Amino acid sequence: MSYNNSQELSDSEFNQLSSFIYNESGIKLPPVKRVMLQCRLQKRLRELGMDTFKEYCDYLFSRAGGDAEIISMLDVVSTNKTDFFREPTHFDFISNEILPEFMHGKPGGQFTAWSAGCSSGEEPYTLAFVLNEFMMAHPTFSYSILATDLSTQILQQAVNAIYAEEKVDVVPMHLRQKYLLRSKDRQKPTVRIAPLIRQRVSFGRLNFMDSSYASIQGNLQLIMCRNVLIYFDRATQEKVINKLCTRLMPNGYLILGHSESIMNMNLPLQQVKPTIYRKI
Ligand SMILES: C[S@@+](CC[C@H](N)C(=O)[O-])C[C@H]1O[C@@H](n2cnc3c(N)ncnc32)[C@H](O)[C@@H]1O
Repeated sequence: MSYNNSQELSDSEFNQLSSFIYNESGIKLPPVKRVMLQCRLQKRLRELGMDTFKEYCDYLFSRAGGDAEIISMLDVVSTNKTDFFREPTHFDFISNEILPEFMHGKPGGQFTAWSAGCSSGEEPYTLAFVLNEFMMAHPTFSYSILATDLSTQILQQAVNAIYAEEKVDVVPMHLRQKYLLRSKDRQKPTVRIAPLIRQRVSFGRLNFMDSSYASIQGNLQLIMCRNVLIYFDRATQEKVINKLCTRLMPNGYLILGHSESIMNMNLPLQQVKPTIYRKI
């Protein structure tokens, strides 16, 4: 079925845009996602002062639009849902298994982790709370976290590290007291992540579709790549995980989201628990 209304995506515009988005980001947009894509792109049309999707497509695929518009388009297309302490059993596993094992094997070593697909920062900052707590109990331990995402807009929010107060309700009180600063403006209550945590996390843009992840240091102890692969098809998932594995040290851990399965994929990984893997 084709639409005539210019503010609605026609079949051919949808097909053109969804295959372009797939090639650029790996994000699969089947026909059921058409209304979602239309709503999200209407925001770009308004921002650019355009009336029709035809005008928008002409701009996107022109020299004038080019790379800058691709970045803005991917900002609105990506789904950024995240939370502090999302899937909390993963953070228990890090505290109770991964960190004691690391200290046993390498006392005094630097623990380096990557939050891959970090969205607005809740995941890497939660990880930093956990690693910082461990460091307080083990003063020879130290850590750093790299956090990357496709969306430049969401990365800016992550760097700002300011969150509505209700977002941090799930953070245990003793961590809130140590690692969060409350805004003075009680009309619009927000919190900011404390500098001692912010300085441990560095953010950068990385597209999982890049040919290799050379900008990421190798020999990482831990990669968290959660709730990202669900947007990709299986072949893309397998390619991405193989590239992630090149950045892990032998025996390093990869943690995926709870609904993500890598069963029957050809990967240098061994399962430790559901969604938790080790590099062979
Ligand atoms: C649903 S969020 C998950 C955030 C966090 N990992 C969590 O589990 O709470 C998915 C993130 O993956 C990012 N993403 C999607 N496609 C990507 C790609 N090709 N390269 C890098 N990041 C991508 C999105 O921008 C989004 O912020």
